[in-house]
Amino acid sequence: MSSVAPLLKLEKVSKNYVAAEGAAPVAVLRDLSFEITAGESVAIIGPSGCGKSTLLNIIGTLDHPTSGSVWLDGQDLSRLDEQQLAAIRSRQIGFIFQSHHLLPQCSVLENVLVPTIADKRSSSTGAAERAEKLLKRVGLGERLHHRPGQLSGGERQRVAVVRALINQPKLLLADEPTGALDRNSAQGMAQLLVELNREEQVTLVLVTHALELARQMNRILELRDGQLVSAVV
Ligand SMILES: Nc1ncnc2c1ncn2[C@@H]1O[C@H](COP(=O)(O)OP(=O)(O)OP(=O)(O)O)[C@@H](O)[C@H]1O
Ligand SMILES: [Mg+2]
Repeated sequence: MSSVAPLLKLEKVSKNYVAAEGAAPVAVLRDLSFEITAGESVAIIGPSGCGKSTLLNIIGTLDHPTSGSVWLDGQDLSRLDEQQLAAIRSRQIGFIFQSHHLLPQCSVLENVLVPTIADKRSSSTGAAERAEKLLKRVGLGERLHHRPGQLSGGERQRVAVVRALINQPKLLLADEPTGALDRNSAQGMAQLLVELNREEQVTLVLVTHALELARQMNRILELRDGQLVSAVV
């Protein structure tokens, strides 16, 4: 792809939910359009229930728009089948959620390596080396063989960050990554995400209620009446 093409482009994306049979559909996203350049960091803010997670799930191909199109690195995602989407999710996109979703019976290192199992491109030695390097980078070099239950909340979330980055995705999506953390851990996580956006050259789109975190992104967009508008907070 040419370097001027946006990494991510949404064109007139709408999403309607039908909660129950016979009920009127609820329009959550309405003709929403926006673009993100490779390397950018963007915060999406807005009140509870306005559709932030819906939007992030559509960007991450976990959900489909009712109408409109999503382009990732020049590819129209609506033209891909489920298998092709699964490959994009595993190679190009990293996900971080409010709750870490680590496997309790696996060690830190094993958890981080889970996404590499399905990715035929990665050699297992290369992946293990990268996992150790990244875990050291986020301050968990001494925790490789701990299980999630033996870590603090902030440490678990850092494992989730490394797991999201292990396959060198182009796009990192984070849905309230500091939502379950105390103030100190949240600040550390915010700083880490900013640094990794730069170091790993990964484009970052995060949803947050924390304005302190949002302010550290290159751009802040507010989801209002189903559309994204520039916000200054
Ligand atoms: N599967 C679904 N079926 C029907 N309605 C849904 C579904 N998922 C979400 N909604 C509705 O869509 C709206 C947007 O939900 P969404 O989870 O995207 O909000 P949000 O901005 O992420 O909120 P929060 O900040 O509380 O996480 C809400 O009104 C919700 O009730
Ligand atoms: Mg949400």
